[in-house]
Amino acid sequence: MNPPVILTHPLALSHLTEMRRFDTPPRRFRWHLHRLAEMLFLEASRSLDTSALRVLTPLAETAGAALARPIVLVPVLRAGLGLSEAILPLVPDAVVAHLGIRRDEETAKPVPYYANLPAALAEADVFLLDPMLATGGSACAAAAQLKAAGARRMRMINVVSCPEGLAALGAEHPDVPVFTAALDDGLNEKCYIVPGLGDAGDRCFGT
Ligand code: PRP
Ligand code: URA
Repeated sequence: MNPPVILTHPLALSHLTEMRRFDTPPRRFRWHLHRLAEMLFLEASRSLDTSALRVLTPLAETAGAALARPIVLVPVLRAGLGLSEAILPLVPDAVVAHLGIRRDEETAKPVPYYANLPAALAEADVFLLDPMLATGGSACAAAAQLKAAGARRMRMINVVSCPEGLAALGAEHPDVPVFTAALDDGLNEKCYIVPGLGDAGDRCFGT
């Protein structure tokens, strides 16, 4: 299992707690998800490479830095949209690439149904965005699609993970670190994370 980076900040814990509550309505769920997404992205982007540059302030020349590579955000539809909406304002020049993957309700296997990926993935720092890492099937399928399209530097931003999902992703994609707000107990018989927060897409969009 890839050891995940787990956010332990008190604000992260309180946002996650509100998201977990069964009666938090979608508008509040999204608001807490957005706040958590900002914190997770700050943590996941901490190790991005930078290039040195010099700038002129109104008073003097000084040393500065810029991100070394373009950023590509890849929300997995639908729930990943809740993460990309919050992260894009932090990196407004990022490209947003979409992957549609849904779990088959009977088998819990991932069913890819949409992909719109940029050509220049190989040169980018890629952030795979999905709030739930349950069986890990969707994340594995997404990472494989991104690698097949050229991605070489990938990080996953997630809200609730579990040992099964981390083990699956770690086995297939040990080069993809996971940044999450929680490592939960495990899966129930329907492959939902327990305690989890339910179906993230439904809770985000009120379906
Ligand atoms: C959810 C979630 C992940 C996936 C996780 O999406 O957003 O993509 O399940 O489960 P896994 O690790 O077992 O693959 P879902 O398939 O419910 O699609 P939706 O967002 O459109 O509801
Ligand atoms: N997808 C979700 O949205 N929630 C889970 O607990 C598992 C898969």
